[in-house]
Amino acid sequence: MKGHYWVYIDAATAAAAAATHIAERLDEAVRDRGHASFAISGGNSPKQLFRELIKTGVDWTHVRLFWVDERAVPPGHEQSNYSMALEHLVAPAGIPEANVTRMEGELAPAEAASRYERALRATFPGAAIPVFDVIHLGMGPDGHTASLFPGEPLIQERQKLVAAVHVEKLNADRITLLPVVLQLARCVIVFAPGGDKAPVLKQVFEGPRDPLKLPVQLLDVRTAETTWFLDEDAAEHMSPQQ
Ligand code: 6PG
Repeated sequence: MKGHYWVYIDAATAAAAAATHIAERLDEAVRDRGHASFAISGGNSPKQLFRELIKTGVDWTHVRLFWVDERAVPPGHEQSNYSMALEHLVAPAGIPEANVTRMEGELAPAEAASRYERALRATFPGAAIPVFDVIHLGMGPDGHTASLFPGEPLIQERQKLVAAVHVEKLNADRITLLPVVLQLARCVIVFAPGGDKAPVLKQVFEGPRDPLKLPVQLLDVRTAETTWFLDEDAAEHMSPQQ
């Protein structure tokens, strides 16, 4: 598996390092292009990352914020990735509302997905596939990333940017960015702390490539930067990187 991983003593230290790295990439993009596009993931570990990101002093007025995925729930729901980010990043960092393009989890998933695809195409006019400056991903203990879970046929999708998916094992609907967007971003940061991820991380980096089984391996075809931030618990079984 391509991509470099850094291992830190604990999740807090990994979060601080990942936040600094993201801030550097966002500042670079603003310097080079006048603005930066940043897509964030949901789940639990981002709360710690966002707390560190706020401390980095990024000038958010030039950063356009997007979501990698969303649960099919309205804002305010405990499962809402938008509400989690609003509480832990958007509000405390004072990110202007005009810079925030959320996935509308309250709508029918297919409609939310097509509206988000239109919003992306409007934000990246003329681009067949939007090129984000920074995409923040997580990874589940089963190797899923975004809302692309093992066995998801859309892992092989090559045209569409966004889709609604039904996650069998959670019996839940989600809206998610699709591989072509994740594969083309200028920088992908994977923040994946926690011992529950150790067994699958070894397979992801050292096992055979099979994104249908281990969806995060879809990142392997990337030519631009992919950097992983892990803690020692997550990297427990990993061989030192060459
Ligand atoms: C989501 C995420 C999902 C997440 C992983 C890891 O909406 O749940 O986008 O892909 O990144 O489940 O979650 P943790 O980082 O909290 O372990």
